[in-house]
Amino acid sequence: MDNILSGIKPTGKLTLGNYIGAIKNFARIQNEGDTFVFIADLHALTLPIEPEDLRNNSRDIAAYYLAAGLDPKSTTIFLQSDVPAHSELAVIMQNFLYMGELSRMTQFKDKAQKMDNEAIGLGLFAYPVLMACDIVLYNSKRIPVGEDQVQHVELCRDLVKRFNNRYGDTLVMPRAEMVKVGKRIMSLSDPTKKMSKSDPKGDIFLSDDLNVMRKKIMSAVTDLGHEIKYDVENKPGISNLMTIYSALTGKEFAEIEKEFEGKGYGDFKRAVADAVINEMEPFKKRYEEIISSGLVDEVLEEGAKKASVIANETLARVQKAVGLYHK
Ligand code: TYM
Repeated sequence: MDNILSGIKPTGKLTLGNYIGAIKNFARIQNEGDTFVFIADLHALTLPIEPEDLRNNSRDIAAYYLAAGLDPKSTTIFLQSDVPAHSELAVIMQNFLYMGELSRMTQFKDKAQKMDNEAIGLGLFAYPVLMACDIVLYNSKRIPVGEDQVQHVELCRDLVKRFNNRYGDTLVMPRAEMVKVGKRIMSLSDPTKKMSKSDPKGDIFLSDDLNVMRKKIMSAVTDLGHEIKYDVENKPGISNLMTIYSALTGKEFAEIEKEFEGKGYGDFKRAVADAVINEMEPFKKRYEEIISSGLVDEVLEEGAKKASVIANETLARVQKAVGLYHK
């Protein structure tokens, strides 16, 4: 069985995109291998964030993992910063990824574009180095992510190839994998843009009240015409809503088109809102119970211990391979 690993960065509020593209899927596949799911808190420092927000967001993600059904008995749930091997390995691996390739990362380019060139943190630039270390430390082969993270996983594959060519078979080759439906949930106000934590317009946040979620869906931008049809090019708004509906109900697109034949956008939006609320109501209730219990701290403490064992083994293997003394 292959090791599975993924993580979420505790910046901003989690969205329905994170839920469909990542969290729900982690829970679905967790028993298919040794699974490691973490909170990428060191990554959150790559853009300015208040200490209090970072702490609260980190706790929230742990609680959301548990609320979605990640079981600490089968999945190691931990905070990245609790396992120092991530940082130690990054200092070594930064020598094996090149500035040229890092500067071609879409996410870096998007973020840097909005910033003053003189004040872009080195960490933002080097982000994929740390992310590659997150992956290789756990000998992970399967990396379930949304579409926006695939390029980073591809870069990690380049690193593994480069490192193993130079030092022999040391690191395990990972592979990004995405959900069949929902790898890129789009904004409800602009369906040509990804739904994201840093762009509050048109996004459904997991922390939204259920009636706010319903309102956002009912006022989602739709397209010309009145047909419920999956056609990303000509009907991006309806296609996005269909994707959300399909991901939550398991219904295929053809089935959905049939279900809403002769019906209007209003009927369809109501059904999408019902599906979202059906899923979110029990999920949010579990989250509330978990966040007010002591479970999160317990799980993270136990998770860090388990994660450290395998991470330290990999780190030692790398240190030895490159010739660091006394390892
Ligand atoms: P992050 O925190 O931006 O997003 C967490 C996960 O949610 C997915 N996602 C989406 N999926 C579908 N539709 C959307 N609109 C949407 N928005 C986000 C992301 O693709 C991701 O899978 N760098 C990572 C965190 C990370 C990581 C890792 C992931 C750090 N180290 C190692 C995997 C392996 C990030 O910032 O994801």
